[in-house]
This record gives sequence, structure tokens and C-alpha cells, in this order.
Amino acid sequence: TDEPLVLGIETSCDETGVGIVRGHTLLADAVASSVEEHARFGGVVPEVASRAHLEAMVPTVERACDTAGIALRDVDAIAVTSGPGLAGALLVGVAAAKALAIGLGKPLYGVNHLAAHVAVDQLEHGALPDPCLALLVSGGHSSLLRVGDVTGDVTPLGATIDDAAGEAFDKVARLLGLPFPGGPHIDRAAASGSSVSIDFPRGLTSRRDLERHRFDFSFSGLKTAVARWVEAREAAGEPVPVADVAASFQEAVCDVLVRKALDAAASEGIDHLLIGGGVAANSRLRAMAEQRAGDLGIRVRVPRPGLCTDNGAMVAALGSEMVRRGRPASGLDIPADSSLPV
Ligand code: KG4
Ligand code: ZN
Repeated sequence: TDEPLVLGIETSCDETGVGIVRGHTLLADAVASSVEEHARFGGVVPEVASRAHLEAMVPTVERACDTAGIALRDVDAIAVTSGPGLAGALLVGVAAAKALAIGLGKPLYGVNHLAAHVAVDQLEHGALPDPCLALLVSGGHSSLLRVGDVTGDVTPLGATIDDAAGEAFDKVARLLGLPFPGGPHIDRAAASGSSVSIDFPRGLTSRRDLERHRFDFSFSGLKTAVARWVEAREAAGEPVPVADVAASFQEAVCDVLVRKALDAAASEGIDHLLIGGGVAANSRLRAMAEQRAGDLGIRVRVPRPGLCTDNGAMVAALGSEMVRRGRPASGLDIPADSSLPV
């Protein structure tokens, strides 16, 4: 086809991602993760992440080109996450993207990481419905967005006021002695537990909280409630039922996420809900969203787990959409902006 070939670079957290797309077709999605280097710290260490990006960048670009069966000079445009994210980590990707754009003489597109988590779904399910409601849940963010045109018309409706959903999964996993990152381990442990065995709190759902925070989230109270519950068990010398705690905690998180996302969709008159970010890989979140949305006539779109976690394909997907819509390229002096608004 004559659609442009776009290479996307993602380095906002601990994944060095390089993706290559043509239109909505994914040709390569190479990811190098430094997650194991952070595991013993129980969270991502910015300095370690930056250094790992630096080491992984060139090999990951080469691997993506090999997989796509292209030479770098075939690329028509370079896209890169310019924010939000860890400042030092973003800088590595932005510098690499500028070098490629200058060296190849091709346009550079700086993209927003959150919008890229939405755009990636086009690689799996085709053109995004306009408008759609996006629930983005990861280790760094938990947001509800109204998305018209993903390259420019994205409105935040709500966000977490403390911990991100993935952060809550990671912290609770740690309390339960499960490895980092904890989300997938909680998901697995929960499968053999009872989700109704412990009644954990649902943050910002009281009538009073809903007045000010209808579409916002809070997970730090839930995390504290789990910690208290586990401590009380241990103090009583009783074993901690890990599967039941995991299932009940997971149920509390998913219940609030799905409830607020569907409330936002209904109040905006939107009948498509898109879920993205690492926590979108959660099996209970997917099942609950499908079930409750179905009752309301709302369609749910969730990219496959590999596209939900941070990757370069999502950046290439959004870059490709910018090219397609004739958006102006970024200047070669674009900054990395750790708090870039969507
Ligand atoms: O999008 P992502 O790869 O990186 C960030 O931008 O943060 O998300 C990582 C987060 C981690 O907190 C991880 O525990 C969580 O996503 N996660 C999950 C699952 N898989 C990954 N949380 C719950 N259930 C899962 N299956
Ligand atoms: Zn992310």
C-alpha cells in the first residue's frame, strides 16, 4: 500500500519499545524490559531504567527492523513518546528519535503516552469509534478519557487522586509476598480464591465523594485496608489466605474501575469503552467490563495483553494516525516532558 511506514519509540518507564506499523498493520513490536533489574527494589528505579534504555536502544531498533523485514532508510516517519513519564527515561527515547529523524531526513512526531495507549487498539480492532470512552490503568496512571480524534481531541474526565491501579496491585502483591510486578501474580492467585470472602473498601464511591470525585479514583485507602487485614491475621498467629485476599482486593479494584467507566460512558452518551494500560491485562477486569457493559448496550474493546503493557507499537500507531490526519510534525527541539498533559 502507499500508507507511510512509521517507527515508534517508547521509553517512558522501564520498557524500551520499538514498533513499526504501516497504517493499522503491525509489522514489528520489539520490547526490551529492565523489569528484572527493578524487582529487588519493589518498584521502578529511574536511574536504572535510564541506563537500561541507553543500552537497549540500538539493539531494539535493529531487532524491530529485522522482524519487519525493512531497512531503516525505508521508514517514512519517526514517532516517540515525549511524555508523560520518567524524565531521564523519556530523554533517552527522545534523543534517539531525534538522531534517527535527522540522520534519515524524516519527520519527527512527539506523542503523548496516554493517547498512544488508546491508539494502539487500532492495530488490533481497526479504526477507533468516535467518540469512545477510554479507561487507562497502569503502574503510573489511572484515567478516564473522552476520546474524539485520538491525535488531538482527548479530554480527561477523571484520574486517580493517589495511587495508580497498577501501583495498588504491586503494593498489595508485596504485602502478600508475591514478586514484582505484582499484577499478574495477584491475577493468578485470585483464580483460586473467593472474591466475596473479604469486603474491602471501594474508594470514592460514597454519595459525598461522588459529588466532587464522580470520575476520580483512590486506591491508597484500599491498600491500607488490605495491610491492616493481613497484619491482624499475622498478629493473631493465623495463616494469611493469600488467594482470598488477592481475589477480594482484585474485585474491589475492578468494581470501582468498571463502575466509574460505565457511569462516565453513560453520562457522556458514549457506547464504546476502550480499556488500555498494563492493568487491562487483568482477567477479572476484562470479564467484569464485558458483562456489565453488555447489560447497558456498551461495546468493550481491549487490546491483547502484549499491546496493553508499554510498547513501541502504540507509539507508532499514534504517529501513523498523525501522519494520516495531516498533523504537523514536531520540531527537532521538542523536549521530553515528564508531566505532559493529554
Ligand atoms: O502499562 P504498563 O506496562 O506500564 C506502566 O505504564 O506503568 O503497566 C504495568 C502495570 C504494573 O503495575 C503491573 O502490575 C500491572 O500493570 N499489570 C497487571 C496485570 N498485568 C500487568 N495488573 C493486574 N492484572 C494483571 N494481569
Ligand atoms: Zn503506560
